[in-house]
Amino acid sequence: MKHIAILTGGGDCPGLNAVIRSVVKMASQHNIKVTGIKNGFSGLIHGKTLRLNLQSVSGLLHRGGTILGTTNRDNPFSYACKSGEACIYVDKSQDVLDHLKQWEIDGLIVVGGDGSLHIANQFAALGVPIVGVPKTIDNDLSATDYTFGFESAVTTAVDALDKLHTTAESHHRVMLLEVMGRYTGWIALQAGIAGGADVIVIPEIPYDIKKIITAIKKRRSLGKSFSIIVVAEGAKALGGSYTIQRLVEGSPDPQRLGGVSHHLANDIEALTTLETRVTILGHLQRGGSPTAFDRLLASRYGTAAVQCLLDGKFGCMTALHGSEIVSVPLASAVGELKTVPIHGELVQTAKNLGISFGD
Ligand code: F6P
Repeated sequence: MKHIAILTGGGDCPGLNAVIRSVVKMASQHNIKVTGIKNGFSGLIHGKTLRLNLQSVSGLLHRGGTILGTTNRDNPFSYACKSGEACIYVDKSQDVLDHLKQWEIDGLIVVGGDGSLHIANQFAALGVPIVGVPKTIDNDLSATDYTFGFESAVTTAVDALDKLHTTAESHHRVMLLEVMGRYTGWIALQAGIAGGADVIVIPEIPYDIKKIITAIKKRRSLGKSFSIIVVAEGAKALGGSYTIQRLVEGSPDPQRLGGVSHHLANDIEALTTLETRVTILGHLQRGGSPTAFDRLLASRYGTAAVQCLLDGKFGCMTALHGSEIVSVPLASAVGELKTVPIHGELVQTAKNLGISFGD
């Protein structure tokens, strides 16, 4: 292993720079040269790189974002090109293979969520020596207990809930906080419990508006003049569907969710006459410094990825199982979405605390 490359793909999250730093630091101890690929797989298609050394990663541990840049479009196996007015999809995977050969890359580390890791898995099947590192604020990868970035996003959401509590109480309002998470409710559930929500609405448990109204009215009958509701962007009413905000052409999953809390707030106001307000936290959840937990996890994942390459373990992903860092086959990492178990301990804990899921 003389020369490795690293790329960050998909939506950014706190901790990406910490992974890059840890990879470079460990590689330098083994006299391995590290090349950073700019803007995810796009840099591998177009040949855009950045030489990484100890100097270039100095001071990166706490910095949000990624110094390499990222994109959630540009899938080399299905690359969107303009053909007149139309958009056609072409296979650019050979360009990637050519660049890796030309640069004499012995190992590639792909830091990404399910979209980027799926692409990594396809390249692994073509013989590219790849190791994946699981990142996403959504925590929706089934082969690991935690992705880095998730805990930082939950911390941001809890901070927002603390702030919403004080203003909700002053004005006797119903306050909705919409959080990200795509098709899963991990951020909403954990932030909702840690932030003292009264109602948590997640995609795994379609809500019945009548049940949410009952929960709000029950609080008022107990003398509480305000209510806090955490809504996952993927939440949907019983028998309803996702609220789509936009479609992003060229993205592995073009659907962007968002705005369901406005529908919910309108219904609550109409059925209770209580003043109801919405805050959509959006990309604030993806920005800023990683928490100590995420810095540690990112550092463990980065060094473990280099160790996999040194051991000749390719086509795998670093993962957290309990308190141990392990490696799992990439294929198992991208096969299945990890959703919130609706009869699991966390949901039960919330219910034991009197939190309603609108079910
Ligand atoms: O996967 C991370 C995530 O932040 C999701 O929670 C959210 O649905 C999506 O990405 C937003 O993507 P974009 O930045 O393209 O709007």
